[in-house]
Amino acid sequence: MPMYRTHYSSQISEELDGEKIKVAGWVYEVKDLGGIKFLWIRDREGIIQITAPKKKVDPELFKIIPHLNAEDVVAVEGIVNFTPKAKLGFEIIPEKLEILSKAQSPLPLDPSGKVKAELDTRLDNRFMDLRRPDVMAIFKIRSNVFKAVREFFYSEKFVEIHTPKIIATATEGGTELFPMKYFEEDAFLAQSPQLYKQIMMASGLDRVFEIAPIFRAEEHNTTRHLNEAWSIDAEMAFIENEEEVMGLLERLVTYAVKYIKEHNERELEILGMELEVPKLPLRRISYTDALEILNDLGKEIPWGEDIDTEGERLLGSYIKEEYGEDLYFLYQYPSEAKPFYIMKYDNKPEISRSFDLEYRGIEITSGGQREHRYDILKAQIAEKGLKVESFEFYLKPFRYGMPPHGGFGLGAERLIKQMLNLPNIREVILFPRDRKRLTP
Ligand code: AMO
Repeated sequence: MPMYRTHYSSQISEELDGEKIKVAGWVYEVKDLGGIKFLWIRDREGIIQITAPKKKVDPELFKIIPHLNAEDVVAVEGIVNFTPKAKLGFEIIPEKLEILSKAQSPLPLDPSGKVKAELDTRLDNRFMDLRRPDVMAIFKIRSNVFKAVREFFYSEKFVEIHTPKIIATATEGGTELFPMKYFEEDAFLAQSPQLYKQIMMASGLDRVFEIAPIFRAEEHNTTRHLNEAWSIDAEMAFIENEEEVMGLLERLVTYAVKYIKEHNERELEILGMELEVPKLPLRRISYTDALEILNDLGKEIPWGEDIDTEGERLLGSYIKEEYGEDLYFLYQYPSEAKPFYIMKYDNKPEISRSFDLEYRGIEITSGGQREHRYDILKAQIAEKGLKVESFEFYLKPFRYGMPPHGGFGLGAERLIKQMLNLPNIREVILFPRDRKRLTP
């Protein structure tokens, strides 16, 4: 028998009636009714009631219970008793109780969630914030999102790779980099595995994915930006066009939503969230059509400019109202709004083979077909005002056999935030890094 715990609260079923078990967790509540004392313990899965009638339990144990503080860590050994009198349908009549760790009082926040705390206070005390079942539910779901994503990629014959996070060149525009000293040289934290995942397309691995942090020195403090986020990146070779990449991405996201719906029923219930598995194919709206829709909604964006946050939000509510859909693609963005590595249409170079995936009016992915033709790629780097020499390590593979390829970067926190319809991206990452947060 394990020392402290044989069962989680969720594992106590009627077959255990009359059996001796061990449970452990944090003191949730204590009630003293004189001749009978109650103790509720919270573990990862829920609450357990310990009932101690004076006549039935050890006198020492009976004395200890009223002196327990909220959030003390205790282990209890006792007999399971299924009875309709207990709120949860069962109770444990304790034989032994051990205090493993005491909790000071007052607590930095109320783990039951009854007393509301500001997000900042919650994040400062994240260890205790996670004791709230609704907060813990988010991270159980997050864990399964990553599991589902890996499962999906393996089932589609992708190989998992790991690329450097200390890098020498920017990929997504020079303004969002965190500079650092690398011995005598200047270096940066990686904003994306972009160049490396593309280099892998010249290796013959053909289909690769990476799940890793990206670092962005975003100046703005918003509910959708982090300075350290987790990116789910994919790259695939021998594609005919960007449509093949979009197909992969929509299957991936649908797989993840379905997986959570099927495996996290309890957590979704705690969060009061019903998930809808989207029907494929997802709607595809070209950039030009999106501008037209926005124009009809009274928002004018000149052709060539990016669709801003408000534009995205307007489009999101329009598509929800019009078609009842939460997920859709925006594609064929102007080439000038996209990075150098995106392929342009040969017959219409002002338009690029790029796409974004939108979830409830927020971008969760960008991707596209890449330019794999060496001379054109080199010209596109120069066109964006970047120094071709700095990209030599990246360009070299393009001279020795680079198949046509494409891929995407899917923001894990954006995906989870939007899936669960949460107001702030900080809710879905344990220890957010933002303008003000470097600890905990
Ligand atoms: P992009 O810069 O659009 O594209 O990033 C891809 C996705 O990463 C997520 N993301 C972020 N999430 C939280 N906080 C941030 N500061 C942040 N920045 C980005 C978003 C976004 O859609 N190399 C390309 C991808 C590719 O073409 O393969 C890239 O990085 O969900």
